[in-house]
Amino acid sequence: MGFFITFIIFITVIIFIFSSKKFSPIPYFPSQPADMLLIIKALSLKNNQTIFDLGAGDGTVIFKAAEEAFQQDLNTKFVAVEINPVLILILYLRRLFHKNRKNIKIIRDDIFKMDFESLIMKQSNNVTIYLYISPWYIERVIKNCKMKNEKFSVVSYMYPVKSLTRKPSFAKASEGKEIIQGKNKIFIY
Ligand SMILES: C[S@@+](CC[C@H](N)C(=O)[O-])C[C@H]1O[C@@H](n2cnc3c(N)ncnc32)[C@H](O)[C@@H]1O
Repeated sequence: MGFFITFIIFITVIIFIFSSKKFSPIPYFPSQPADMLLIIKALSLKNNQTIFDLGAGDGTVIFKAAEEAFQQDLNTKFVAVEINPVLILILYLRRLFHKNRKNIKIIRDDIFKMDFESLIMKQSNNVTIYLYISPWYIERVIKNCKMKNEKFSVVSYMYPVKSLTRKPSFAKASEGKEIIQGKNKIFIY
C-alpha cells in the first residue's frame, strides 16, 4: 500500500512538472529518431565547434551527435540547455555513461532569459544552435541569442526561422526553399 501511494505521488509530480508552464513552457517532444542522421549531417560536425541544443529534452540529439563526434575523433563541444528538472536529471544520468562525456555540458536555464551572449563569448569556437521548439517561440529565443558572431549557424527542426536568411546548403529544394527533407524538414541557416 505504501509503495502504491509513493508511486501515485511520483506519477502526479511527473505529470505536474511536464504540464506546468513554469517547468515546461514548451512541451517535450524528442526529435524523430528517423531523422537523426540528417540532423547530424545538418549540424555539420567539425573540430573547434560548439553545438548548443536550446531546450535539449532528454538529449536525444546532443548524445547522438556527441557519439558521432567521438567516433570521428573530433573535439566538438556540446551544450544541452534545459529547464525541466526531470529532463535535467535524465541528461545528467545519460551523460554519466556517455563515451564523450568530457565534451558534454548540461545547463539548467531558461532559453528565453539566459545570458546566451556571454556564454558564447567564452567560446572561441564556431557556434551552432539546434532548435526544436514551437514556432511561436522561435523568434523569442533567436532574439535572446543576439547573434553577433559571424560564425554562428542555426539548425531548426521542423520549423523555419523567419528572421534568418537560409544558407545555400547540400539540401534538396522543396517548396522553393533549400532545406533537408527527412520525415520532417530541417532548416539550416
Ligand atoms: C520539443 S522539445 C525538443 C527536445 C530536444 N531538443 C530534441 O530535439 O529532442 C523542447 C524542449 O524544450 C524544453 N524547454 C521548454 N521551455 C524551455 C525554456 N524556457 N528553457 C529551457 N528549455 C525549455 C522543454 O522542456 C523540452 O524538453
